[in-house]
Amino acid sequence: MKLSYGQKIPIKTRSEIDRMREAGRHVAEILVELRDRVRPGVGTEELDRYARKLIRERGLTSSFLGYGPYGLPAYPAVLCVSVNEEIVHGIPGGRVIREGDIVSLDFGVSVEGWHGDSAVTVCVGDVTEECRHLVEVTRESLDRAIKTMRCGQRLSDIGHAVQEFVEPAGYSVVRDFAGHGIGAAMHEPPWIPNYGPRGRGPRLVPGMVFAIEPMVNAGAPDVEILDDEWTAVTVDGAASAHFEHTILVTDDGPEVLTQVAGSH
Ligand code: MF3
Ligand code: CO
Repeated sequence: MKLSYGQKIPIKTRSEIDRMREAGRHVAEILVELRDRVRPGVGTEELDRYARKLIRERGLTSSFLGYGPYGLPAYPAVLCVSVNEEIVHGIPGGRVIREGDIVSLDFGVSVEGWHGDSAVTVCVGDVTEECRHLVEVTRESLDRAIKTMRCGQRLSDIGHAVQEFVEPAGYSVVRDFAGHGIGAAMHEPPWIPNYGPRGRGPRLVPGMVFAIEPMVNAGAPDVEILDDEWTAVTVDGAASAHFEHTILVTDDGPEVLTQVAGSH
């Protein structure tokens, strides 16, 4: 999401963090259930319906439904499903998942107004060796970014870690979208690009919470937005992968709030 640099980064209190932990746990558990339903023949809209049911059963609030910054139309679903050449913000609809697809599921909820946001890319059955590798590299780039999130480190170290890993592997980092602060709003300052030099920007302190979300293309980094005004696709039609976690900076290092046993 687009946010400007240089705005104040909110520091969360203990009770705010408790609610974000709870939101994050729900997001993680629901993503595990959704991931299990990604199979050939399943419609993307069917996945959104199932996500809505789980939200209802747990008494949660979707962070995505109705979201519409900067004059964009309100986002019409609780889930983003982005298949193959779709990078992010794929609106669930008529598309049916097929063997060999890579499918990004992006999902967020709030608990008493405090948000969690996470995404995973799933390989559907036998995917090409290149797609599998793209997905693995993107997952590992998120891990490397998370490892930089210790107190005293600089904000730009996060994106640097992604770029430094992804580009030598032969892939490109999407520049039109970025990670973001998260808390009382799904998108808060700062804007956290997945590229750039190390050693710039504010130092991290305990109580900062960021959603880190590398988007990595097999081909060129260029992005095109479809007529629905949301779905971002690669201009060259090559595949794209996306992983995201919501992470709290603590005295003891990064704490991933959107992770449970069995999740990405
Ligand atoms: N993780 C995505 C992002 O931060 C979630 C977008 S939700 C949507 O951009 F509603 F905006 F699609
Ligand atoms: Co996000």
